[in-house]
Amino acid sequence: MPFPVDQIDKLMRTRRSIFPGFYNDREIPEKIILDILENANWAPNHKKTEPWRFIVIRGEGKEPLADYMQQYYRAHTPPEKFNEKKYLKIRKNVLKTPCLVAICMYRDPDERVPEWEELAAVSCAVQNLWLSCHARDIGSYWSTPSSLLHADEFFGLDDQTQCLGIMYMGYYDHDDFPAARRPVAEKVRWIDH
Ligand SMILES: Cc1cc2nc3c(=O)[nH]c(=O)nc-3n(C[C@H](O)[C@H](O)[C@H](O)COP(=O)(O)O)c2cc1C
Repeated sequence: MPFPVDQIDKLMRTRRSIFPGFYNDREIPEKIILDILENANWAPNHKKTEPWRFIVIRGEGKEPLADYMQQYYRAHTPPEKFNEKKYLKIRKNVLKTPCLVAICMYRDPDERVPEWEELAAVSCAVQNLWLSCHARDIGSYWSTPSSLLHADEFFGLDDQTQCLGIMYMGYYDHDDFPAARRPVAEKVRWIDH
């Protein structure tokens, strides 16, 4: 299929983690969120388990999430390590973000594939989501704080479902996000002779 290879290479190589501090307050239209999630839904997965589950949080839904994350931080941080700035930033980051998408994994009840394959499939879905955001000039990043890895009760997840963090998503104005990768040649071994 004739896709514009230059554009797609560029899309993948320029995707960055873009944090809430950079987001402006422009809302992400629901249709765009749905298109992005649709792309995530086309991720590869073994035995058609389609293990990704998403919870979209925006508008009024953000207050309870901010409350929960702050309470979790307070309850799980020894008083001598408690950092008031961090505590306040947790709330600020959630409220400043136009749209958050919790990333969850639904474990196939018949365990037809090993769990790591389900995790891998969810990660592929996250990459689809991340690149789809980037293609639309939406900044995003996958955040995995302990509060969210233990958010099953907060989100009302069933026993088969586990939260693997959250995508922060927002439009942004800034445009110079430094990036670095060590050369791919260091990570590749060829067996061809
Ligand atoms: C599974 C996973 C979990 C991540 N969790 C966090 C996180 O909790 N906090 C954070 O600041 N970044 C997190 N990131 C984003 C990475 O920090 C980021 O991808 C990395 O620094 C490379 O930068 P880039 O995304 O701009 O290429 C996570 C990324 C992945 C793939």
